[in-house]
Amino acid sequence: MNTPPRQIIDEEVKWDKTKTIVSKTDTYGTILYANDVFANTCEYSPIELIGEPHNIIRHPDMPKVAFKALWDALKREENYHAIVKNLTRTGRYYWVITDFVIDKNDDGEVTGYTARRKAVPDSVVKKIEPLYKTLLDIENMKGEKASELYFEAYLKEEVGKSYDEFVVDLFEQEKSKEQKAIADSQKVEEEEETSKLKKGLNWFFFGDFL
Ligand SMILES: Cc1cc2nc3c(=O)[nH]c(=O)nc-3n(C[C@H](O)[C@H](O)[C@H](O)COP(=O)(O)O)c2cc1C
Repeated sequence: MNTPPRQIIDEEVKWDKTKTIVSKTDTYGTILYANDVFANTCEYSPIELIGEPHNIIRHPDMPKVAFKALWDALKREENYHAIVKNLTRTGRYYWVITDFVIDKNDDGEVTGYTARRKAVPDSVVKKIEPLYKTLLDIENMKGEKASELYFEAYLKEEVGKSYDEFVVDLFEQEKSKEQKAIADSQKVEEEEETSKLKKGLNWFFFGDFL
């Protein structure tokens, strides 16, 4: 498909973040299936996406090393969690966390991959975005290999775990923070309700109606 050169717009596309974006590809990353959530989010129709390479939604802010690590994992037949900024047809963006299934035929041969993606909390994006920016700057100024070596060293020295583990931990930490914040706000609401109730019954216990 001929896609017009896209102007990048620094604006998040509106999408239903409770939903899951699904795509299936062959072993080369050619899209075989796109669910409606995927198509709507990236502003194409499912039919337009079918047969296209998955890099149709590659955002220029993404460093190459992120995809190299993804493909290395898939070739090892391992699932991989990546945080990815994607590009929509109109040049907008959306951030997702990915989860992969390796598709195999009855003979156990790999036939392709299924990717499921969920929205990423803003707090996770804030943590990963500066790292991607650094990796991209290194790639542009010093080359892809330098960016790859920096990424490896950064994970070893500053994170102490693989990128996949780093992403999963980051996601879980932020999710549990979010859940704690929700639970705390519910607790505050309950306390307010109880105190309202108490206040509401003050007239009964302490009122001067007797
Ligand atoms: C199942 C599957 C899903 C993928 N999903 C995305 C995606 O959401 N965004 C993206 O930019 N690349 C995705 N890729 C990686 C692309 O195939 C491609 O490697 C990447 O966009 C970088 O483009 P490039 O290889 O031309 O540099 C996916 C690959 C596979 C196999």
